[in-house]
Amino acid sequence: MMDKIIVKGGNSLKGEVRISGAKNAALPILISSLLAEGVNTYTNVPDLMDIHSTTMLLAKLGARVDIDGDTVRIDAAGLIEHEAAYDLVRKMRASVLVLGPLVARLGKARVSLPGGCAIGARPINLHLKGLAALGASIELKHGYVEASAGRLKGADIYFDIVTVTGTENLMMAAVTAQGTTVLRNAAREPEVVALADTLVKMGADIEGAGTSIITINGVSSLNPIETAIIPDRIETGTFMMGAILTRGKVTLLDCEPNHLGATINILRRTGADIDTTANAIYVSAKGDVASVDVKTQPYPGFPTDMQAQFMVLMSIAEGTSMISETIFENRYIHVSELIRMGADIKVDGNIAIVKGVPHLSSAQVMATDLRASASLILAGLVAEGTTEVNRVYHLDRGYESIEKKFAGLGAEIQRVR
Ligand code: EPU
Repeated sequence: MMDKIIVKGGNSLKGEVRISGAKNAALPILISSLLAEGVNTYTNVPDLMDIHSTTMLLAKLGARVDIDGDTVRIDAAGLIEHEAAYDLVRKMRASVLVLGPLVARLGKARVSLPGGCAIGARPINLHLKGLAALGASIELKHGYVEASAGRLKGADIYFDIVTVTGTENLMMAAVTAQGTTVLRNAAREPEVVALADTLVKMGADIEGAGTSIITINGVSSLNPIETAIIPDRIETGTFMMGAILTRGKVTLLDCEPNHLGATINILRRTGADIDTTANAIYVSAKGDVASVDVKTQPYPGFPTDMQAQFMVLMSIAEGTSMISETIFENRYIHVSELIRMGADIKVDGNIAIVKGVPHLSSAQVMATDLRASASLILAGLVAEGTTEVNRVYHLDRGYESIEKKFAGLGAEIQRVR
């Protein structure tokens, strides 16, 4: 049976919450273990469904995986399989990240094409075009990508669209290629930088990660390492918005304020007080929330992964705000549920017009996307009455102990079976 989360609205969030390691940094970094023989040790790994899917995939490929609390050890010396099957890729699109490392290490990979998902079509054409430029031959057969190559050769690759996992996949393919690869219009997300830092620790030669031009000089082999996963900036932003929504006073610990520039800037304009130290953020809010227009952009812009949560904040703000989603074509699946909770939102194409209402009211809701589900929890925290969020499966993919963390801040929230 599926769990659900029950939230009774009305409590102000108060106190301290510890931020977990970043899902979207941990996924490519765990997968980068495929590039070296020997035991890699990863710390601050969040306990999430997507992480379990990843370690299961790596184990299927022949890696030895050992999980001890938030420490994960992976040794891919015994890498024997080269296939990521439909079952796993369907559950977690990020499984396509094994493509680059498998081709680099084994000279072949067979990975199920992910297909669309709730938030859009999400093709991987740019991953494949880049791998082909590095010398892999690519065939699409029976719903699978089959890639094969001898040693990959460095190439100059331009991304038509900024793609996070595309940049990561090609970075992992290129680290042991012969010669120099240049990735242009590369993603600048902190998770891309975290992966590059990990690969450099392993002995790779990478420059420019965090800018839109990444240069990779191929090396002959990589070594195992020990590294810590960076804090989750989306979890951080979600709790910041929870604090503001409930006019609370929250300290976020073990986070990385430098990765949240656009978010902090926009949340300050809603009227919240936000202070930062090296690895903590202090948020407090009183009185009305001001409306602010937001457009999602690749990093360092405002993240698409925070759009749904921000919409909840705007739905109880003074005045009207315009939200533009420029990354995914269909990332408004939370809108109809928020309307059922009393929000006043109109969507036209990729633009949502959100007119603040004085109160949301509780309802039974569900969503088919991780961040949309998080937005429904936030809505439940301020709604009048008791909200029931179904299909918690999506939340468990990407938020560690979300109900315990909110309960720790004084919310009336619990998981029921
Ligand atoms: N795109 C293409 N062709 C490609 C690749 C991407 O057209 O070959 C398009 C996509 O369809 C989309 C845009 O480019 O319209 C950007 O997508 P991107 O490739 O950057 O997304 P992703 O790498 O699949 C990662 C995160 C997402 C996050 C996006 C955008 C991981 C594992 N996932 O996805 O995270 O929304 O970047 O920042 O890093 C989440 O955590 O809830 C989540 C969905």
